[in-house]
Amino acid sequence: MKKPLIYITRKIPNQFIAPYAEQFEFKCWEHENEPVPRSVLLEQVKEADALLCMLSEDVNEDLMKAAPHLKIIANLAVGFDNIDIAAAESRRIVVTNTPDVLTETTADLGFALLMATARRLIEASDFVRRNEWENWAPYLLAGTDIHQKTIGIVGMGRIGQAIARRAKGFGMDILYYNRSRKYQEEAELSARYVDFHTLLKQADFVISVVPLTKETAELFNAQAFQQMKNTGIFINISRGAVVNEEALIHALKTKQIMAAGLDVFAEEPIRSDHPLVNLDNVVALPHIGSASTETRTKMWKLCLENVIAVLEGEDPKTPIT
Ligand code: DGY
Repeated sequence: MKKPLIYITRKIPNQFIAPYAEQFEFKCWEHENEPVPRSVLLEQVKEADALLCMLSEDVNEDLMKAAPHLKIIANLAVGFDNIDIAAAESRRIVVTNTPDVLTETTADLGFALLMATARRLIEASDFVRRNEWENWAPYLLAGTDIHQKTIGIVGMGRIGQAIARRAKGFGMDILYYNRSRKYQEEAELSARYVDFHTLLKQADFVISVVPLTKETAELFNAQAFQQMKNTGIFINISRGAVVNEEALIHALKTKQIMAAGLDVFAEEPIRSDHPLVNLDNVVALPHIGSASTETRTKMWKLCLENVIAVLEGEDPKTPIT
């Protein structure tokens, strides 16, 4: 009997698929660092029963039409804005993501980015590398304090809560804004629920942890940046498209806000000639929120467990719907 075919859009370490190789056929795009070309993907999914994909793939209706046997789409990410969920539902294709396993790692990165931006770590490191350090000086590369400041967390899901736990350790006042109020969590985290405008006005650090949806697209626009403090710092570890980047560039250039730490961009990969990358008051990272070796391993394994479960007629561990 023909083995069910699982197509994986990046090179996957062989030891992860070896335990399943007897029952399933695996085909993978052979590169680890390059996404599969669209034409190759459309060809490869024709016979596939399962697709294990990355956030770099646009899993739209056309792709699903090209894949009549598809039973599951397993996304190697917690975010799933790259997948047309309605189209998948109408075709009864299960969609899964990788929540939980990446929460703490992503919160670590969010906090690291906040600290690097506030204390100008990248600028300072570049300064030493360029051999520009001639003298110690009282305000040389002076940044801004983090401890006992106010953090405004936009999106109090799992990662938002993990950020709040870290902020609590730094003695910060914690404000949050979320679609719905989270009474139990706010009590545990000593966080205060406020409306979006109050958060923007009062927070020293505004951190975006919201998923990208119709409601959150360009949530951080010119009006939002105008309401932030001039000393405020904006951090984004969710999705680039929740920000109007033109407005952010303007806010940073005109010192409406002090700085930004960005792990995500409207268009990825962002190029080095992009205005955001060239501002001194921006720390830009290449979307590495969940990129620790331990967590990426857990994400691969969870995706495979979801795929195998569905192909064996069982419920996946982490379905989206
Ligand atoms: C996610 O999981 O959605 C992250 O953005 C990937 O690092």
